[in-house]
Amino acid sequence: MASEPFRVPRSRAHLTHASMREDITRALDSIVYGDLRGVHDLRDRFEAEFAAAVGQTHAVGVTSGTVGLFLALKACGIGPGDEVITVGNSDISTTAAVHHCGAVCVLCDVLESDYTLDTSRVAALISPRTKAILPVDLHGHPADVKALRALADAHGLLIVEDAALAVGAHDHGRPVGAFADAAVFSFAPFKPLGGAGTGAVVVTSDEAVAERLRLLVGYGHTPGATGRPVGHQHYIAEGYNVPLDTLQAAVLLVKLPHLPEWTARRQAIAQAYRRGLADTGVLTPTFRPESAPTFRSYCVRAPNQGSLYHQLREAGVEVVLHYTPPAYQHPVYTLPLAGSDRLAVTDQLATELICLPVSPELTDDDIAWTLDVIHAAL
Ligand SMILES: Cc1ncc(COP(=O)(O)O)c(C=O)c1O
Repeated sequence: MASEPFRVPRSRAHLTHASMREDITRALDSIVYGDLRGVHDLRDRFEAEFAAAVGQTHAVGVTSGTVGLFLALKACGIGPGDEVITVGNSDISTTAAVHHCGAVCVLCDVLESDYTLDTSRVAALISPRTKAILPVDLHGHPADVKALRALADAHGLLIVEDAALAVGAHDHGRPVGAFADAAVFSFAPFKPLGGAGTGAVVVTSDEAVAERLRLLVGYGHTPGATGRPVGHQHYIAEGYNVPLDTLQAAVLLVKLPHLPEWTARRQAIAQAYRRGLADTGVLTPTFRPESAPTFRSYCVRAPNQGSLYHQLREAGVEVVLHYTPPAYQHPVYTLPLAGSDRLAVTDQLATELICLPVSPELTDDDIAWTLDVIHAAL
């Protein structure tokens, strides 16, 4: 096996997978060497178990979070001419999904505390064209979607939550996504529940949204009596062919029951970082009392972002500068996105944030090493 390039890597998911080798191999065997009739059953099972795990009625597996966001917006009826209020400090997938629907992003600033949408600023951005709000649970931190729900209902808006990084996080005692019309979770590697490749799921408890999602994911084909296309073909929409791959579903089915223990370990690592960084000048995130985040990584604010980043990497700690620069500053956006001139907090955070490794396989020694490097650098 190739030696680990970092002393403290972002993830050692391969060790977790190795510890589940027998179960994963058995699940994959049944697909690759089975008679194909059972192929879809595994995806159906995963979708049902995932929906139950996050307290939703429906989960529709898709190839990636990027596709999931696009289809969730489309299934909610977002189209050309519509405005969607979202943040500027997310992955390009978030803004791209809005634009792929033909809609327009209106960017809102974020909170200094947990880096999520500043809900107090949303009302001022609502126009007659606003159709939806797209909050992002950045780094695994729940956006205050319960507060947004009241605002959305008062203005007849939909909420599509980008929970790509937040599998395992809770808010107000419920899994994230509970207050949205649809939410998207990603299973790409390095996410809190990573598969062995790309994958994602859109969850909803709205029957009509789920039906449109399934239609779009599966060619626009009406499902047969068994829930799968059977017999002759009957298309009622021009859809896509982007279901969650069954091999990923098989791996994720084995991993899903372990999510609570992994989330707890992520939270414990975050606490250790928080305690270790007290009084250092590095600012750690703070959360609403109802918010129970998970941690894809632990993102702290450092006054000397560039030099700390390099020192940590040179010392073998795989830190990352996620979403720096923010999405709206990338060359793809040749014209400024609406609202991008009023993102003082977003702009400031982009010059400060450093994402420290969090992964259930990291040891206390890994965390101590990372903290020692930071203390020495400061
Ligand atoms: C906040 C956020 N949303 C959406 C995505 C897209 O997910 P995927 O990589 O599964 O397409 C990502 C990917 O990192 C992300 O960070």
